[in-house]
Amino acid sequence: MYAAVVRSFGAPPRFERFPAPTASGEHEILVDVLAAGLHPRVRSAADGSHYTSDGALPLVPGIDAVGRTPQGELLYFVAPDTGPGTMAERAVVDRRRAVTLPPGTDPVPMAAAMNPGMSSWVALRRRVSFRPGDSVLVLGATGGAGRLAVRIARQLGAGHVVGAGRDPRRLDLLKGLGADDVVALDGDDKDVAERLGRVAAEVDVVIDYVWGRPTEQAMRALLTARADRSRALAWIQIGSMAGQDITLPAALLRAANLTVLGSGQGSVSTAGIVAELPSLAAEIAAGTLAVDPLPMPLARVEQAWNTPAEPGRRIVLIP
Ligand SMILES: NC(=O)c1ccc[n+]([C@@H]2O[C@H](COP(=O)([O-])OP(=O)(O)OC[C@H]3O[C@@H](n4cnc5c(N)ncnc54)[C@H](OP(=O)(O)O)[C@@H]3O)[C@@H](O)[C@H]2O)c1
Repeated sequence: MYAAVVRSFGAPPRFERFPAPTASGEHEILVDVLAAGLHPRVRSAADGSHYTSDGALPLVPGIDAVGRTPQGELLYFVAPDTGPGTMAERAVVDRRRAVTLPPGTDPVPMAAAMNPGMSSWVALRRRVSFRPGDSVLVLGATGGAGRLAVRIARQLGAGHVVGAGRDPRRLDLLKGLGADDVVALDGDDKDVAERLGRVAAEVDVVIDYVWGRPTEQAMRALLTARADRSRALAWIQIGSMAGQDITLPAALLRAANLTVLGSGQGSVSTAGIVAELPSLAAEIAAGTLAVDPLPMPLARVEQAWNTPAEPGRRIVLIP
């Protein structure tokens, strides 16, 4: 079969012949891949920098996809932890990590939205006791996952949603997607802190896609502007677009009721993530949750890798 193949962590994958995988065990089947999203997580696995990377090469990237079984059933699936990924003509599906899609589902928007959607869907439903009426800040709300997080928070019953990000144009769009307020993460630290303190000081949950410096700023701004510092604030670490580390001053932690936790592979079991897939897939199939897909042929994977996709748009490779 043909696949995207990474032979060196310093170079993009190339479209090459690669041995087709074989299904083994009672839960595995081989499917034709119809669409696979080029998510940030796929890039980090393909350059060896993701925390789950074992450094083995060559590899076929791709963590999820929409595929068709030999019987014609349409599936969204998360790739097995070992073996070739989904950016190939065929892939192995473990049925326990798959959800059946209604016939006629368009594979491209589904492949684009499931991974970014999953980040906040799973975080709010599995990592915190999210209650209707709770107030949410999304840090990095201008990206694909962040934009969906705004919608998802609203859909899961948030009483107030604030979106924060850098890009002014995409920040403006968030109001139409369910954000009550938006905060620009630009200008000097004092301005950013003042803006965040004004509209987000009383949030119950932060969904954080950026980490690094913007998180340090936001944490200090929120915690010091809070009317009642003993009111709980859950800070859910999901992505690290702006940095891998933060400095968390001891006094800040002591002086507020802050819980910092993560959501992703590891902090949520695979079974826990998979249990959330059907409900999320139903929302995407119904058109309630969407990201803007940019379909490209798998044969042009090198070009896709080097195309700086506009945040909020998701490249989807079609074998
Ligand atoms: N844990 C999970 O379950 C899970 C699942 C899916 C995704 N993720 C992670 O979530 C993150 C976002 O994914 P995505 O799909 O939304 O990516 P994306 O569509 O590429 O969006 C990237 C976002 O990061 C922001 N950003 C980038 N560099 C920044 C910086 N230096 N300072 C402030 N903001 C910065 C961008 O803001 P501007 O455009 O405004 O500059 C944009 O909002 C990634 O780290 C991804 O791996 C985690």
